Amino acid sequence: MTRIAIMVGPKGRGSNMAGIARACASGKLDAKVVTVIAPNDTAPAVQTAEDLGLRVDSVAPGDLYGARLLAVFEETKTELICLAGFLRLLPTEVLTEYPGRVLNIHPALLPKHGGKGMYGRRVHEAVLEAGDLESGASVHYVTEHYDEGDVILQKSCPVEKGDTPEMLAARVLAVEHEVYVEAIRKVICAG
Ligand code: GRF
Repeated sequence: MTRIAIMVGPKGRGSNMAGIARACASGKLDAKVVTVIAPNDTAPAVQTAEDLGLRVDSVAPGDLYGARLLAVFEETKTELICLAGFLRLLPTEVLTEYPGRVLNIHPALLPKHGGKGMYGRRVHEAVLEAGDLESGASVHYVTEHYDEGDVILQKSCPVEKGDTPEMLAARVLAVEHEVYVEAIRKVICAG
């Protein structure tokens, strides 16, 4: 059973985190969420994690951020790290300690519409401005650059005529929940 740490951001709802946790609890994934790491206690995802009975660690960015994260990973015997709504770059020491074991989800079909500052509503606005006929979600390995690691799995959905960024975001979010669980399964099965 693979031990997963999920890292959320300060504003994330935590819906991807909850999707992964439910897939673990139902046996859809041979894995266990051993901690949800949030930057503070007030992140909306914290309440969701607690409602799901998950351990929550509040680790604020700042001095020795990498070392403090590694201490939590060590204590929880984390084997795989899943970013879900986490908007920063991870400290290098974490990436060095977990080579090929850090995943992220991006709400578009990378390499399109990724990179620094491309998150949330901005991604969906860019898709609509580009006139793309489809969007979707990508799960990729995390590197020291934003949204640049190899893609593990992508799933697309149509962009509909008259879509607002919110309408597209909702359609993509449903895809995110499916593709993240499938990508984790793929990584776990590959060993
Ligand atoms: C998702 O759209 C994810 O792709 C992005 O941040 C959002 C987080 O949503 N990285 P949630 O907190 O998982 O509901």
